[in-house]
Amino acid sequence: MILKLVLLSVLAVIVTAEKVRYDDWALYRVHPENEEDLKFLNELMEKNEHLDFWKPPSQVGEYVSVVSPPKMKEEFEQSLKNHSIHSKVVLKNIQKAFDAQLHSRKRRNTNNNELYWTNYQTIDEIYGWFDYLGRNHSSVVTVVTVGQSHEGRNITGIRISRGSGTRAFVLQAGEVGADWLSPTVLTYFANELIFSNNSEIRAASQDFVWYIFPLTNPDGFQFTQDSERLWVKNRRPTSTTTIGVDLSKNWNSQWGVSGGSHSPSANNYIGLGPFSEPETRFLSGYIGKIAKNYTLVGFLSFRSFGQRLLLPFAFSTEPLFNYDEMILIGRRAMGALSVRYETQYRVGTSRNVHDGATGSGADWVKYRYIPPVAATYLLRDTGFWGYTLPVNQITPTCEETFDSFLAIIREAKLTNVL
Ligand SMILES: *[C@@H]1O[C@H](CO)[C@@H](O)[C@H](O)[C@H]1NC(C)=O
Ligand SMILES: *[C@@H]1O[C@H](CO)[C@@H](O)[C@H](O)[C@H]1NC(C)=O
Ligand SMILES: *[C@@H]1O[C@H](CO)[C@@H](O)[C@H](O)[C@H]1NC(C)=O
Ligand SMILES: *[C@@H]1O[C@H](CO)[C@@H](O)[C@H](O)[C@H]1NC(C)=O
Ligand SMILES: *[C@@H]1O[C@H](CO)[C@@H](O)[C@H](O)[C@H]1NC(C)=O
Repeated sequence: MILKLVLLSVLAVIVTAEKVRYDDWALYRVHPENEEDLKFLNELMEKNEHLDFWKPPSQVGEYVSVVSPPKMKEEFEQSLKNHSIHSKVVLKNIQKAFDAQLHSRKRRNTNNNELYWTNYQTIDEIYGWFDYLGRNHSSVVTVVTVGQSHEGRNITGIRISRGSGTRAFVLQAGEVGADWLSPTVLTYFANELIFSNNSEIRAASQDFVWYIFPLTNPDGFQFTQDSERLWVKNRRPTSTTTIGVDLSKNWNSQWGVSGGSHSPSANNYIGLGPFSEPETRFLSGYIGKIAKNYTLVGFLSFRSFGQRLLLPFAFSTEPLFNYDEMILIGRRAMGALSVRYETQYRVGTSRNVHDGATGSGADWVKYRYIPPVAATYLLRDTGFWGYTLPVNQITPTCEETFDSFLAIIREAKLTNVL
């Protein structure tokens, strides 16, 4: 008996250390058409722990993104049919798409110190590149570490400064572990701001002091590389059986008002209180330090996915602060984004165009420091790939997002917002 127990526990250790596979897990796009559909889907999300909601039910007419393990597919599809809810399988086997994300991974070349934006980057590659920039381009780049994650990883970014700037701009990404896209997009931004000779980019680089933090949930991100590709939260134990808090809902702005869960086992668990997590505490504290030394004029947060530009504040449909200015700037910027590859974004508060989830970094920074520019980008796509986005879309995403980012600055200057 004892031997059996020992064997079992050894097995358990082996199993948890192994990489979880998602063979034949399917990705659905579900279309609620009335309040009843929404109610049913919300109940399903709460009570069915096997289904993984990548995009929760939010409003009528807005798609819901759900992943189902093979053993649940039949029941899930039947229950949707029973309620006459339209849905479509957009990917039959997400494991295949995840495998493809790694096939062509090209490691950072430590001889010439280049990064590649044709594949998803790792923590080691990004931090290694930062170290190199700090060493070999020290007149422009300084490496800044704001603190450590629960598991002791550095939360590291860079500061780009070309002299006597007095206005600061903060860019942040990587709060959601499963989102491999946004960290890679922000290193592209950094590369452009540091190395481009284009006059508009150079002017942007000179006009502000830049702080760029691409990996603000390093433990969750690493966990998705090593163990569970679908992990969302950080990795701090929250009870004897549950781990992690959704950092994108843990900031002290209308915390817990809507769009998150109070249940520690949920993927969108918001924590015991605002800033309960070391990652959000350190980063918000550091933003406070930046705001002491400079006029904080911009905060942009990036994550996948949804193709939205979310303006403060998530809980409201009201035009608060300079919303009226920002919606014009945002719409023009998303127009600029669509030029290259016809990628369409919607602009508005989260309540208007997304899930209304409160407690985001952009909302907190806007309320606390009132920078004229504050928003959250939800990058590609709209639920046809979600977190399985193929690598051939990484460079296009970087390019179009950077186009729109320059347009935000351009339009904000034209309208005297910046
Ligand atoms: C669908 O409806 C049928 C008939 O009412 C019922 O027997 C079945 O349990 C329902 N299935 C699901 C998955 O809700
Ligand atoms: C970085 O700087 C070191 C020391 O100055 C130098 O040896 C090395 O060649 C530089 N590397 C690159 C890629 O510029
Ligand atoms: C973490 O950051 C500190 C301070 O910047 C640095 O000295 C240390 O080497 C870093 N640790 C790792 C593991 O990179
Ligand atoms: C920018 O100009 C410098 C100096 O003329 C050159 O060395 C560098 O390669 C150029 N960078 C790019 C990205 O074209
Ligand atoms: C703010 O300025 C002080 C004093 O010059 C400096 O020590 C500190 O590193 C600066 N902090 C930031 C975040 O720029």
